[in-house]
Amino acid sequence: MHPAMYEEERVDFGGHHPLQVKLCFSLTAGDAIQPGEESSLDFKDLSFSAAPLIKTPPPGPKSQAYLAYQSSHEGSTVSYSKGMPMAIERAKGSTVEDVDGNLYIDFFGGAGVMNVGHSNPTVVQALMRQVGELTHALDFPTPSRKLLIEKLSRLLPKQLSRLSFGGPTGSDAVESAVKLAKYNTKRQPIIAFEGSYHGMTAGALSLTSGRHFREPFLPLAPEVHFVPYAYCYRCPFNRTPDKCHLECAEYLDHVLEDPHSGVGKPAAIIVEPMQGEGGSIVPPAQFLPKIRQICDKHDVVMIADEIQVGFCRTGKMFACEHTETIPDVVTMSKALGGLGLPISGIAYQERLNTWPAAQHIGTFRGNVLAYAAGAAALDFMVETNLADHALRLGERMLSSLKELEAASRVVGEVRGKGLMLGVEFVKDKATKEPWPEGAGRVRSTCHRRGLLIEIGGHYNQVARFLPPLVLTDELAAKGLAIFMDSVQEVERLL
Ligand SMILES: Cc1ncc(COP(=O)(O)O)c(C=O)c1O
Repeated sequence: MHPAMYEEERVDFGGHHPLQVKLCFSLTAGDAIQPGEESSLDFKDLSFSAAPLIKTPPPGPKSQAYLAYQSSHEGSTVSYSKGMPMAIERAKGSTVEDVDGNLYIDFFGGAGVMNVGHSNPTVVQALMRQVGELTHALDFPTPSRKLLIEKLSRLLPKQLSRLSFGGPTGSDAVESAVKLAKYNTKRQPIIAFEGSYHGMTAGALSLTSGRHFREPFLPLAPEVHFVPYAYCYRCPFNRTPDKCHLECAEYLDHVLEDPHSGVGKPAAIIVEPMQGEGGSIVPPAQFLPKIRQICDKHDVVMIADEIQVGFCRTGKMFACEHTETIPDVVTMSKALGGLGLPISGIAYQERLNTWPAAQHIGTFRGNVLAYAAGAAALDFMVETNLADHALRLGERMLSSLKELEAASRVVGEVRGKGLMLGVEFVKDKATKEPWPEGAGRVRSTCHRRGLLIEIGGHYNQVARFLPPLVLTDELAAKGLAIFMDSVQEVERLL
């Protein structure tokens, strides 16, 4: 994003940072990993140094007891503990300890929440200070609320001058963004993208594309239309990157232009600048600016969902910065609460600030503890130049994964930006038939060996990495070695 688009005191993320890492990954499974001479020492102290360490293959006896209790007392909808069966005792930096004393390298990051690392000491300190002072204040101004707003305002594009905190989940930020667009435009239709994930509350679920999530609950909000995202590996227009004219965006333009497209003039287009749950998909650089142009051309509110990709995840404070795109509304959550403290919010342009008091409310409209933790986390991100660290470490990891893509029969594509990476599994590279069972097995194998990863993608066929951004070169290399060994092992099954 152009620096002039920011407040003057905005921190510059351009330069080198002191925690620069040098990484030398070994591709051959089982080979010694060779971290480079320089290492991210300061971050190293944040994690358990002994990780990975599997004392008893998970789930160990204590985990089993917790899991049995969970399955007999909690609703059957719990899911993560089914994919990675264990009970968690504590976590530090980019490492996690289960109740049986197993230590894992965390490439999962609490589903992309723990950007500054688990139990980040400076954030814990700020949180503990706040706990004794005030913990709940609805939407009254408080010192910590003001502090977080001030810090966010410096980091967001200056056009997004209004901030509004909502309920504790990202879904609620999506709800409020859509309500804001509908309120301002007096229109109903919303356009979302294939592969999108915007949350599970009824309104947000209406914008989430996965059939598995939607179908049991139909009908959802009416007048939501899905158009293709720039998912180039599976381009529905059968283009290859060298022959791509952004047909997906052109098609969206056509849908809005043609009076017989069957789609009414929308209030908003909601887009993930890079798709997360859809499979760590990075669209071509022109895609987001093109969506911006289309929104301007048709007078439609552009909502960028930064819930997963925001806060340094992709190598910029916000993912829209990669293409200098200024949306009308940005949704935020996940890493906003610093250590997983629940909070969500939207930032939006002044002209949309028309709605009256109490138009989007709830008991928890913000969270005092999350303001304090979030403000401290933003300081940490800026002071350590965490975005730059994520960008460079991500590049190195991706280049190792590219070698895996070339060498493996079942890795169709690796992709990503910063520390949001994806490895797509296929049964056959020529047909690209998805291999969700393979992805699931890789996750289980990684878990047993001391690495936590996420699964996503249209067919649940993508292994996803969303590590805490304080991941060190050493842990990244060790984690990748476990991942590559696991891929090799699982590949033999096909
Ligand atoms: C892009 C995006 N939007 C919205 C959400 C929903 O957030 P939450 O799960 O906190 O409701 C998510 C969650 O993964 C997400 O990745």
